[in-house]
Amino acid sequence: MIAPLSTNLSTRGALSRSMAVALSCEGLWKVYEMGDEKVQAVKGISLAINQGEMVAVMGPSGCGKTTLLNILSGIDDPSAGQVMVAGKQLFGISDDERTEIRGREMGFIFQKFHLLDVMNAVENVEVPLLLLGYSPDDARQKASLALKKVGLADRFDHRPSELSGGQQQRVSIARALVHDPSVILCDEPTGNLDSTTSTQVMDLLAELNQAGSTIVIVTHDDEIAKRCSRVIRINDGSIIFEEE
Ligand SMILES: Nc1ncnc2c1ncn2[C@@H]1O[C@H](COP(=O)(O)OP(=O)(O)OP(=O)(O)O)[C@@H](O)[C@H]1O
Ligand SMILES: [Mg+2]
Repeated sequence: MIAPLSTNLSTRGALSRSMAVALSCEGLWKVYEMGDEKVQAVKGISLAINQGEMVAVMGPSGCGKTTLLNILSGIDDPSAGQVMVAGKQLFGISDDERTEIRGREMGFIFQKFHLLDVMNAVENVEVPLLLLGYSPDDARQKASLALKKVGLADRFDHRPSELSGGQQQRVSIARALVHDPSVILCDEPTGNLDSTTSTQVMDLLAELNQAGSTIVIVTHDDEIAKRCSRVIRINDGSIIFEEE
């Protein structure tokens, strides 16, 4: 008997959801040319991050973690190789197309927060939505919800300089998740925080992951790595091994 079309579709949907790749790269290289000297920061990295994963990228200082993350983010371009996010290629397309894909599919969290100090918390969180063309009212509503989600309902009007480090990082987490991106990329998100605040920020990221967000975290912190589903270890620009 032929199964009803709706059953087929929903089964296929569930299968493709469980196996879907959120972010991948193939044969990535980054060579910086400094006069006569060449620095090979990333040397032929290929990887795939599935939807719903929380992955840590670890390795010694200078091994190429930030360079890799910046290329996966479309902030920097590779010397060779390709990045795919939500099934779309990130390089070999126009700058406008790349900006559009980054704005829609990615959220970013940085060690130094990178919030705009001329704006208060809720305005900072609205930025990605306004860039995507949301109306000011809709952007305000979604940004308010995101700030409540990270426990900052009572800090909407505070500017970054009027918030603690942990609160600033929570604003940046709200900004990273407010547009429901396919993947959230973090470069040492707890690097500027004390251990208690780090744990709180990490609890929040783990909560988001449990709710379905795909997260990639560059970190030096073993405690963070322990909470991830997979750890990718890098040395001298290459993946040396992966741990589940
Ligand atoms: N813009 C640049 N121009 C030239 N060389 C660079 C540039 N950015 C990074 N590098 C070099 O590339 C290598 C990788 O740097 P990267 O910042 O990716 O390291 P990292 O693993 O993030 O280190 P850390 O843990 O200290 O943040 C380093 O040797 C660095 O000096
Ligand atoms: Mg770095």
